[in-house]
Formats: sequence, structure tokens, C-alpha cells
Amino acid sequence: MPSLFVAKERDPAEGRVAGSVDTVKKLESLGFDVVVEAGAGLLSRVPDAEFEKAGARIGTAADAKSADVILKVRRPTAEEIAGYKSGAIVIAIMDPYGNDAAIAAMAEAGLTAFAMELMPRITRAQSMDVLSSQANLAGYQAVVDAANEYDRALPMMMTAAGTVPAAKVFVMGAGVAGLQAIATARRLGAMVSATDVRPAAKEQVASLGAKFIAVEDEEFKAAETAGGYAKEMSKDYQAKQAALVAEHIAKQDIVITTALIPGRPAPRLVTRAMLDAMKPGSVVVDLAVERGGNVEGAEAGQVV
Ligand code: NAI
Repeated sequence: MPSLFVAKERDPAEGRVAGSVDTVKKLESLGFDVVVEAGAGLLSRVPDAEFEKAGARIGTAADAKSADVILKVRRPTAEEIAGYKSGAIVIAIMDPYGNDAAIAAMAEAGLTAFAMELMPRITRAQSMDVLSSQANLAGYQAVVDAANEYDRALPMMMTAAGTVPAAKVFVMGAGVAGLQAIATARRLGAMVSATDVRPAAKEQVASLGAKFIAVEDEEFKAAETAGGYAKEMSKDYQAKQAALVAEHIAKQDIVITTALIPGRPAPRLVTRAMLDAMKPGSVVVDLAVERGGNVEGAEAGQVV
């Protein structure tokens, strides 16, 4: 019987686990002998006993050594790799771009790695599209976090003592995360605007009731790749975009950035000067921070 190991994540900031009660049951029924590392599900509120009820055995990191398949959320560390057997399959979000040495280390250890973020984004593979599912939730969470940090109301509040205007929210990058952020901010009653370099995003932003703001020149009209992604824009376009954004950002209460270019560092969209131009108490959430960040000075996992 092939054995499958669900690892506890090593990054203390990672709350997810690569297996759920349902998937463990499914893997068992497919004929896998499933071992879940003790405590792997705790931060996702799945106690070991729930995995046991689903048919898994609770083990330790040492059980990874005999596993044929290892499931992880994040790419394994060097220490974890040393604990896997040659020939094992590792399935995770590998974050391969710019991490060549870590990927090479897996190859040298004789592992076969599947990078979930490279799953083709076709209909048949939709249930395995980690980029879409996670971006969707992240877009929602960004607005909830921003609303929490912003100590005023998002909707217009009419009180007997006067009216508080609706908060102005600006979403930069209107892909999966950005569109969800727009929809969530609208539901909370904010006045929402958004920008993107792909012309297709214009209609999508408008359909969610937000205002579209972008430099719509000839380069913009051709900014979408055949795969539906953004291209890295020219220096000239970036300068024009920065000028437009600088003026708009100064009037915003909340800015949420989600701009990514596959395989490239995230574009720098918000400079320190732009931040300085914002009103005191404004909030900026940078969802691209792990790929270098859209916002100058943003730090992963930190409120700065
Ligand atoms: P992403 O995560 O790679 O990028 C996020 C957004 O940032 C994109 O909309 C991109 O155009 C934008 N961006 C890049 N550079 C920018 C800049 N300088 N300024 C402003 N915005 C910038 O993209 P994501 O969210 O993964 O999806 C991109 C497209 O793919 C969307 O149209 C989405 O609807 C489509 N898609 C299609 C799927 C399917 O057909 N199954 C699945 C997932 C996405």
C-alpha cells in the first residue's frame, strides 16, 4: 500500500494544512496509507482526533522518511528534504521563481516535485487551481483586515448628529484577488475604484460597480498576454501610471494592492512619497508582499 504523509507546516505564520478530513477520507479510499504529522491541522482547527476518525494515523516528522507521497502547503525546507526518501513525490505550492537553489535541492535529493501553482488554469483542473481559490479568499480577507485597521466606518453613516461619508477604497490589480476585494468593499458600503493594466479588467471592474482608473494608451490595449496575464509594462507606461495613481491615492482612505506578473517580481506601484501624500489614518494592504511587494516599505506578516 503506498504511503502518504501530510506534513505540519514549518513556517510559524502558515496556518494552513495540506490535508482535510474530507481529502484524507478520499485518499484512504484510493488505497493510500495516510499518516498525518501530529498537530498539522491545529491552526486550521482540525485536531488530530478528527484526522484519526477519518482513517489516518497520527505520526511524527520521522514518518516522512517512509512516505511515497508528501503533501505540504509550502515548499519543504532543507531540513525536511533531508528527511524524505529518494524517489518520493512532493506536492505543494513551490514558489519556484527566484528560488532555483531550493528547487535544485529537491532534484538532488531524488524527489519529484509538483508545483500546484503551475496547474493549468483550465476548467477540468479548476478544483486544483490553488491560485484562484487562495487569491479569492485573500481578496476578501484584505478588506476585512483593512476595515479592522481603519478605525472609522466604511459605509456612509447618517446619524442624528451628522453624516459620516463613505470610505474611499482603491484596489490596484483587478485579477481574482482584486475583484473579490472590490466586491467585498462594495458590500461593506465603501466607494470603490480600481486599476489594472489589462483592458479586460475594465469591464469586470465596472460590472462590480467600481470606477476604473488607468492610463488607457496603445500599450494598455495590448497589455494582456494570450494566457490572460499582465505583461511587465514599459518604463514610460509605469511613469504615466505612477503620475495618475499618485494623484488618486492622495484622496483614498484604504488602498489594497494585488498586482502580480507571473515569473517576475511584483511591480512597485506605491512609493513612499505616495504614502506620505495620504491622509493620516489611511490603510494600505499589500497582497503582493511575498513577491517583493507593490508598496514601498511593506513587510510580510507585519503591520508597519
Ligand atoms: P495575477 O495574480 O497574476 O495578477 C493580479 C492582477 O494584477 C492581474 O489582474 C494583473 O493584470 C494585475 N497587474 C499586473 N501588473 C499591474 C500593474 N502594473 N498595475 C496594475 N495591475 C497590474 O492574476 P490572476 O488574479 O491570477 O488572474 C489574471 C487573469 O486570469 C484574470 O483575468 C482572471 O480572471 C483570469 N483567470 C482565469 C482563470 C480561468 O479561466 N480558469 C482562472 C484564474 C484566473
